[in-house]
Amino acid sequence: MKHSEWIAILDYGSQVTQLIARRIREQKVYCEIIRFDTKAVDLAKRAPKGIILSGGPASVTDKGSPLCDPALFDLGIPILGICYGMQLTAQTLGGKVHRGTKREYGKAMMQVTKPCPLFQGLEKNLQVWMSHGDKVEAMPAGFETVATSDNCPYAAMQNAAKKIYGVQFHPEVVHTPQGAQMLGNFACKVCGCSGDWKMSKFIEDNIQAIRAKVGKDHVLLGLSGGVDSSVVAALLHKAIGKQLHCVFVDNGLLRYNEAREVEELFGNAFGIDLHTAHSQNIFLDALAGVTDPEKKRKIIGKTFIDVFAEKARRVGKVKYLAQGTLYPDVIESVSPIGGPSATIKSHHNVGGLPADLKFDLIEPLRELFKDEVRAVGRELGLPSYVVDRQPFPGPGLAVRILGDITRERVDLLQLADLRVREEILKMENHLDVWQYFAVLLPIQTVGVMGDDRTYENVVAVRAVQSLDGMTADWFKLPYEVLDSISSRIINEVKGVNRVVYDISSKPPSTIEWE
Ligand code: XMP
Repeated sequence: MKHSEWIAILDYGSQVTQLIARRIREQKVYCEIIRFDTKAVDLAKRAPKGIILSGGPASVTDKGSPLCDPALFDLGIPILGICYGMQLTAQTLGGKVHRGTKREYGKAMMQVTKPCPLFQGLEKNLQVWMSHGDKVEAMPAGFETVATSDNCPYAAMQNAAKKIYGVQFHPEVVHTPQGAQMLGNFACKVCGCSGDWKMSKFIEDNIQAIRAKVGKDHVLLGLSGGVDSSVVAALLHKAIGKQLHCVFVDNGLLRYNEAREVEELFGNAFGIDLHTAHSQNIFLDALAGVTDPEKKRKIIGKTFIDVFAEKARRVGKVKYLAQGTLYPDVIESVSPIGGPSATIKSHHNVGGLPADLKFDLIEPLRELFKDEVRAVGRELGLPSYVVDRQPFPGPGLAVRILGDITRERVDLLQLADLRVREEILKMENHLDVWQYFAVLLPIQTVGVMGDDRTYENVVAVRAVQSLDGMTADWFKLPYEVLDSISSRIINEVKGVNRVVYDISSKPPSTIEWE
């Protein structure tokens, strides 16, 4: 989509490049992370209002380190280099970078020594976050130092006439408390952005773009009830109405009442052309007797494709398949050091459809971060129980039922899981808990009920805090909440006589149990 006002972020592989984008967008300025070696002529065609060169793990003094097109500095577009980006700026423009042997890592105090638009409105003494080995030793001609720290005579530099800036520290991380304002100053005061990028505008622009792309054709969407596909459904429905056809696979492994909620909201309230595949039995039959976690996942993935394809064929002539791809999935492909590590568990999405089902893709959320997707969802009128929904794995409750999956065990887990959710939702800060659910263990334990001995199931409760699911810490739920979860499950869910709380972090554990 074309944006009238945007900032380009060239990615040199820092682990926190995404945070630069987040901070800029928080200033209501659209930005995109693009390849580090993007040619100046190509970038100029897209007319960004400003360019940011990110940090990165390499050393500009090494052969083969990722460099920028030197012509970027002649475009007349304001540039901000951050850490590696500052060193790259200095070296490219004729300054000198000293190859460090020791890393400076952590908080530092910085003094602003000269007026600089980046620090406008801020104190003279600022806490900043340093993480670098190399540092600028001699600035290029036309530059002056505007801030220093004990370890860094050139903590920030500027060429005000050419609007080129460099900071040795990382303004994008929270440990630089005024960093967001510095990036906002760059975007708005230096680059002249107006800061009017809003979700309502995103929706308006996107609807036009979708209509122009789709024309009179039809679009198919696999609706799962999760945040991303729900928002895609609402957005596409607003754009093309009856030309959107959603397929919802009820595999019987969803949370309590979830299938009905999806049908109620999208089929009835929104009036979307919704095709539900009631395929609980197909999945249960395919899973019968299977206990190996990876086998379960593969069976569910394959069965899903079969069921989805069968429904899709019945929908009729469709040109496009819509997907809820988000911006972090897109960014991975531009980093010089590649995306995050190898898959630990096989995830499944709508990939690998049979050859007779060929679609062009439409991915209306590919420019957005998750929190922006939620904001779009809210703007489109989706209820909080959808837009604030916690992540839910594709294979559903199957990976939370250890051992055999039977209808009885699914029913039992749904009821236990409902209690976990109901009790945590009562907490004021429930949105701080990234994910919370119940797991059914494949063992039975002895208990007493009245005068009788029982020999029944154990339910484990899992609640974690996390930013992106890649790492996680077990959530320190208050004892009272744990208490009510435990007593409600044991009293209200027949077949359970013991509840345990999972206190392991990821790594080395994972969030799901299988
Ligand atoms: P793990 O268990 O690997 O999970 O720590 C990390 C996050 O991913 C979710 N998850 C999945 N999501 N398909 C998905 O769409 C899957 O197969 C799948 N497996 C795990 C999990 O719920 C957590 O949020």
